[in-house]
Amino acid sequence: MARRWTNRLTENDATPEADFFNRRQIIALAAGGAGAALVGLPDAARAETLEPHPWEDITSYNNYYEFGTGKGDPAANAHLLTTEPWSVTIDGLVDKPGNYAFEDIMAAMTIEERIYRFRCVEAWSMVVPWNGFELADLLNLAGVQSRAKYVAFETALRPDEMPGTRTRVLDWPYVEGLRLDEAMHPLTLMATGIYGRDIPNQNGAPLRLVVPWKYGFKSIKSVVRITLTDKEPPTSWNKANAREYGFYSNVNPEVAHRRWSQASERVIGGGLFAKRQPTLMFNGYQEEVASLYKGMDLARFF
Ligand code: MTE
Repeated sequence: MARRWTNRLTENDATPEADFFNRRQIIALAAGGAGAALVGLPDAARAETLEPHPWEDITSYNNYYEFGTGKGDPAANAHLLTTEPWSVTIDGLVDKPGNYAFEDIMAAMTIEERIYRFRCVEAWSMVVPWNGFELADLLNLAGVQSRAKYVAFETALRPDEMPGTRTRVLDWPYVEGLRLDEAMHPLTLMATGIYGRDIPNQNGAPLRLVVPWKYGFKSIKSVVRITLTDKEPPTSWNKANAREYGFYSNVNPEVAHRRWSQASERVIGGGLFAKRQPTLMFNGYQEEVASLYKGMDLARFF
């Protein structure tokens, strides 16, 4: 069934919304009480429903180096992280800087479900049914000042709770950044749930960034600080290896990583005979985001 990418669905869209939901999503919505549904469909999936990966895949194969570098380490260790209470400092070029309690943020935001493709720079991918709110709504709550050009993000750093941070595999805390227009784009999400349930610690509880057209490492977990700035902020993987990881990190099958091709990806969950699929420009969200990069040399600004 052909289908357009739809932004925020309203009650007038009741029929297409009902059409779209497969059984698993209906269960997730019923269980989680997610609000208005929002579904982002990439170009290649326009003619088919995106099938989300099972909960087990999404929550057992992770990258969260604060809990270890193995794919199973975050699921084994992230229970050590205390996520209550939690607050996010929003500062820099905003009208209302301060420490925002997680509960107050949740009360002010509209939680939606979005099914997004997720593409790691290591050339594997999944489809994840996130619950969350648009980052733009949170930034607007804090009041972005006109001099702001970039948004910087920081993950919690708690050596007592995060065994991986006792080793300097990265320069802690984990930091990331977006250009302001990327941060304000309606596809850019702060995720607080998966399948209508609270997001598990290993996936970045209680709130993490999701930027579906960029490599997964941009999607910083367990955010404690968001800073509006006029300068391009430092980012963890770029600091670790600037030749291999750029600031933009847009998914691009034509720009290879220095050590491997990005033209295709391994779909998680396929076992030994996992099929590879071609990687799509901007992870399939070309129609929605290509205009952000008009005129830019994407091989140079990788
Ligand atoms: N955020 C923090 N704080 N620490 C990390 O190690 N890993 C990144 C990103 N966010 C990471 C992080 C990478 S490399 C990827 S691919 C995704 O988280 C993985 O998200 P997932 O475990 O939910 O699939």
